[in-house]
Amino acid sequence: MAKDPVNVNEYQELARQALPKMYYDFFAGGAEDQYTLKENVEAFCRITFRPRILIDVSKISLSTTILGYNVSAPIMFAPTSMHKLAHPEGEVATARAAAACNVIMILSYSSMCTVEEVVSSCHAIRFFQIYVYKRRDITAQMVQRAERSGYKAIVLTVDVPRIGKREADIKNKMIAPPLKNFEGLLSTQVVSDKGSNLGAYVDSTLDASLSWKNIGWLRSITKLPILIKGVLTHEDAIKAVEAGAAGIVVSNHGARQLDYTPAALSVLEEVVRAVKGKVPVFVDGGVRRGTDVFKALALGAQAVLIGRPVVYGLAAKGEAGVRRVTEMLKDELELTMALSGCPTIKDITRGHVITDRERL
Ligand code: FNR
Repeated sequence: MAKDPVNVNEYQELARQALPKMYYDFFAGGAEDQYTLKENVEAFCRITFRPRILIDVSKISLSTTILGYNVSAPIMFAPTSMHKLAHPEGEVATARAAAACNVIMILSYSSMCTVEEVVSSCHAIRFFQIYVYKRRDITAQMVQRAERSGYKAIVLTVDVPRIGKREADIKNKMIAPPLKNFEGLLSTQVVSDKGSNLGAYVDSTLDASLSWKNIGWLRSITKLPILIKGVLTHEDAIKAVEAGAAGIVVSNHGARQLDYTPAALSVLEEVVRAVKGKVPVFVDGGVRRGTDVFKALALGAQAVLIGRPVVYGLAAKGEAGVRRVTEMLKDELELTMALSGCPTIKDITRGHVITDRERL
């Protein structure tokens, strides 16, 4: 394997070499048969281009706005947990890379650096992802800490009433370390006689009774816009808009929760049609190429989130690796736009792609 990868997939291999097997499997793995894990990537292969010609593409601009913030590209860092397992600097290094690339970072509720540490180390535009704990007071405190520290939005992840069956973690007896954000608030050193403590941790902390009526509570404790992450149907997209969501993230949690959910990309249009432009729709899962970003935008996403690519960059080369992964995706997106006849993000339309189903 080349030391200087030329694409995101090669970073995955470097990360595999850099990490202990237990941690690599934790980052890379999905639930059960990992059908959805494969689908998330393969769904992109079933979409091809309808490039337009003889359009002036001598200048290409990737810049766009997300919730009113100017960013360099329609790419955000998805919330992924426990970055110190990938690199000793953890989320602080990831945030520095986000700042250097001028993209938005969504900090995970299960980060190993605190909300405040991430802020003091860089000026990236940050959103904060939350789970709702049984102990509502703790979640409320976290939301308020994020708001005070200048995070610009709350991303409520709703697809984890229980943890998915991730068999590699069970086999490896994967143990999550205590999370510094919750020091003094909660004992996160949950032990389990079954080996891995991930399931026991989620069962003892997260509130499986969370429902639509609780979104009002969340809105009452913060002025920040709330995005709902984990929507996979038009029914729930409409409910999310009615509940006051400022945006929707179409996501199957990187295939780590319910196996045999469709690829997020393949339900994106269903959600986009239901939402009717009332709020922005984002998508994540399987984005590994600039062409993937283009395809998601053509199907109506305002931006994509990238999860594992960030972690792989971080594991392989720390902050520089995350920067490199992001720049590679941006460069590939820029090239795709040039070769498709789209000088700006707004020029990307549904007519620039065709699905396998439409072609046959
Ligand atoms: C995640 N994801 C996730 N989501 C979330 O809302 N909170 C979290 O703490 C985590 N943690 C997490 C850890 C790891 C290791 C992975 C791979 C994923 C899901 C994440 O936000 C996103 O939905 C997926 O990662 C997107 O898929 P790709 O880009 O990894 O294929």
